[in-house]
Amino acid sequence: MAFASTRFINEKVLELQKEIGSNAKTMIATSGGVDSMTCVMLARRALDKKNITVLYLNDGLMREGEGEEIKRFLKTVGIELQIWDVKDAFFEGLKGKFDPEEKRVAFREVFYKTLGQAVKSYSVDFLIQGTIAADIAETQKGIKTQHNVLSQIGINPAYFGLKIVEPLRELYKHQVREVAKKLGLPRKFAERKPFPGPGLATRIIGEVVPERVEKVRKATQIVESILTSPGTFQVMAVLLSDKATGMINGKRMYGDIIVVRSVESKDALTASPSKIPWAKLYKVRDKILAEVPGVVKVLYDITPKPPSTIEYV
Ligand code: XMP
Repeated sequence: MAFASTRFINEKVLELQKEIGSNAKTMIATSGGVDSMTCVMLARRALDKKNITVLYLNDGLMREGEGEEIKRFLKTVGIELQIWDVKDAFFEGLKGKFDPEEKRVAFREVFYKTLGQAVKSYSVDFLIQGTIAADIAETQKGIKTQHNVLSQIGINPAYFGLKIVEPLRELYKHQVREVAKKLGLPRKFAERKPFPGPGLATRIIGEVVPERVEKVRKATQIVESILTSPGTFQVMAVLLSDKATGMINGKRMYGDIIVVRSVESKDALTASPSKIPWAKLYKVRDKILAEVPGVVKVLYDITPKPPSTIEYV
């Protein structure tokens, strides 16, 4: 049976009104991704705008200009985005961490500590999270600890004095996009490719430090601008921790290795590599070599999921 997005919206609006009521204060932390932005649009329909705080934590791990783009859109629907600059706390937490799961844990700890501070400072009663069905399935299977499935990673929301609401937990990504469009979210948000909570940190093997994030951010912009197409699930650039010998200014030297990954998928549970024409890959390669300092190799990843995951960390 086809997914009935209008019915879903009507039901969820009623549920939110019943659960949260007309006086309680609600917060949504958004990264600009379709899941959290759909939560914002649902909350806006169900609740009084003056009781909703939408927060963007600038953790230093997001893509170029994301906060400002979200702020501009939300203004058009009458919501003032709160932006907190918390880069230093995240880089401090990630310093000296090399193990992938340790990095995720460090990210999560800083994220919830910061969110805890925000919840307190805005006196919030409810936190709406954009957890979707794939997050829950993968966390249950132990494939990855998704930071937005709190109870499953041993975090007790009551500790922060708030209740968690997850209105999208039954939906898969394509259904969230349908709901998003029905709610009037512009295509650039509704069709936005998934981007992980820990941001560019999932695309850095080894230590996450500002200079390395800057390289991945630049490479990400290049890869996304050339390879993004409506059918493609996700495209990314990854910085490896190994170095390779190359020639920079006519001299043999050790340089960075960037991996380009583009995958086709419906629900992120399985994925296959995109069959990209050589000409496009060459374009990506040339731009990365010209614009990301210190890179001597650009590789294309042809691994499906499974056995690979989509991200590298
Ligand atoms: P993996 O790498 O597990 O990714 O195959 C599956 C999908 O989930 C995204 N992803 C995350 N999203 N928080 C998120 O919100 C996370 O910690 C996280 N880790 C991976 C990934 O980008 C892909 O779309």
